[in-house]
Amino acid sequence: MHGRSQTHSEMLRRKLRHCHNLRFKFLLVLIFTAGTLSLIKIHQKPSYIHHGRLELTDEYPHSNINCSKILQGDPEEIQKVKLELLTVSFKKSLKLTPNDYINMTTDCNSFIKRRKYIMQPLSKEEAEFPIAYSIVIYHKINMFDRLLRSIYAPQNYYCIHVDKKSPESFLAAVKGIASCFDNVFVASQLESVVYASWSRVQADLNCMKDLYRRSASWKYLINLCGMDFPIKTNQEIVEKLKALKGENSLETEKMPSNKETRWKKHYEVVDGKVKNMGIDKQRPPLNTPIFSGSAYFVVSRRFVEYVLENNKILTFIEWAKDTYSPDEYLWATIQRIPEVPGAVSASDKYDVSDMNALARFVKWHYFEGDVSRGAPYPPCNGIHIRSVCVFGVGDLNWMLRKHHFFANKFDTDFDPFAVHCLEEYLRDKALYQHSH
Ligand SMILES: *[C@@H]1O[C@H](CO)[C@@H](O)[C@H](O)[C@H]1NC(C)=O
Ligand SMILES: *[C@@H]1O[C@H](CO)[C@@H](O)[C@H](O)[C@H]1NC(C)=O
Repeated sequence: MHGRSQTHSEMLRRKLRHCHNLRFKFLLVLIFTAGTLSLIKIHQKPSYIHHGRLELTDEYPHSNINCSKILQGDPEEIQKVKLELLTVSFKKSLKLTPNDYINMTTDCNSFIKRRKYIMQPLSKEEAEFPIAYSIVIYHKINMFDRLLRSIYAPQNYYCIHVDKKSPESFLAAVKGIASCFDNVFVASQLESVVYASWSRVQADLNCMKDLYRRSASWKYLINLCGMDFPIKTNQEIVEKLKALKGENSLETEKMPSNKETRWKKHYEVVDGKVKNMGIDKQRPPLNTPIFSGSAYFVVSRRFVEYVLENNKILTFIEWAKDTYSPDEYLWATIQRIPEVPGAVSASDKYDVSDMNALARFVKWHYFEGDVSRGAPYPPCNGIHIRSVCVFGVGDLNWMLRKHHFFANKFDTDFDPFAVHCLEEYLRDKALYQHSH
């Protein structure tokens, strides 16, 4: 009996020990697995959106242009592009049309994949700092797609103003692209935009209203046109916007006296052109002077709210509607009214040139020259349209060292490699070179 019970308890003990062993082993395995999994997770964190598939390196598979060399300003490589652009095979290369986009966007998942849009915020900092964009366009659907792709982030908002005169297929293609994203939409009110007329400002105002109503979360508004392209990543733009601490950044300088007739006379649109009717206008309804600037701005949400709701601003806006090129003084002037959020003093000590503002890098023909002799920028490497440089690849190296968010003008019909090397560079930077 005794012996039996001894063996019995011995057996029990062994069993228990075995159990303990098993449990211990089980625990070990569990800890090990958990540890490995979390290690893998940490390692995988940057690749959760499959970065390799999002690189933009193979857009022109049949050319052998090296964008790294282009961005370094290599003269031989820049010359190679000029020759490439003349080749027959290149001129015949496939260009995506509005109908292609209408077709592609019937299947949004495949469109987003094929066009390589980034569908997740790339950092917490960006996710928490949404930006609103007002984009005024009228043609070149592929340029629009590439511009949108370069600035797209799911936390941002994009209002697209399409000219009323644009072909139906163009509008349908933009609507197709917009239909693939919750945060991209066509403006609720479309204008027929006439060069140098009020309609250009109205187009932005329509988008401002829509964006303001659409979301209370965005912090800054940036306006763009179809020939703009970013020279900074979303992360870099967010960092610079935060550093503004609520101030706006746009060109605003003393009004040259030769431009004063633009708002001292009454203008009307006649046969699609803005015409001086030879009638004097009332003085502007402001205590501050009229300032000179550009159509492009970087402004805070509070600035937008003020512009849409303040009676003094609304009166000024009404007054400005029959003037010449109001886009080139309206924002510049509002930015100098002391009570406007993010504005600067009207004192000339606060004048901001286009080179000092963040909004836009532009090369004007008559300022180009030898930088070592005091010119603000080197000569245009592309061609000029209305005295403004349409960039060639040779313009990129210098431009990328400037602080501006965007540069104007780019045109893929003139130099597709300028846009291509820029988008490849920005995508690479966004995916792999986080500053944090
Ligand atoms: C492009 O040029 C860089 C040097 O500027 C070089 O390191 C790189 O290997 C080149 N890439 C290709 C694909 O030839
Ligand atoms: C859309 O494109 C696909 C693939 O190229 C093609 O098979 C299809 O016929 C096109 N559909 C229309 C409506 O054009």
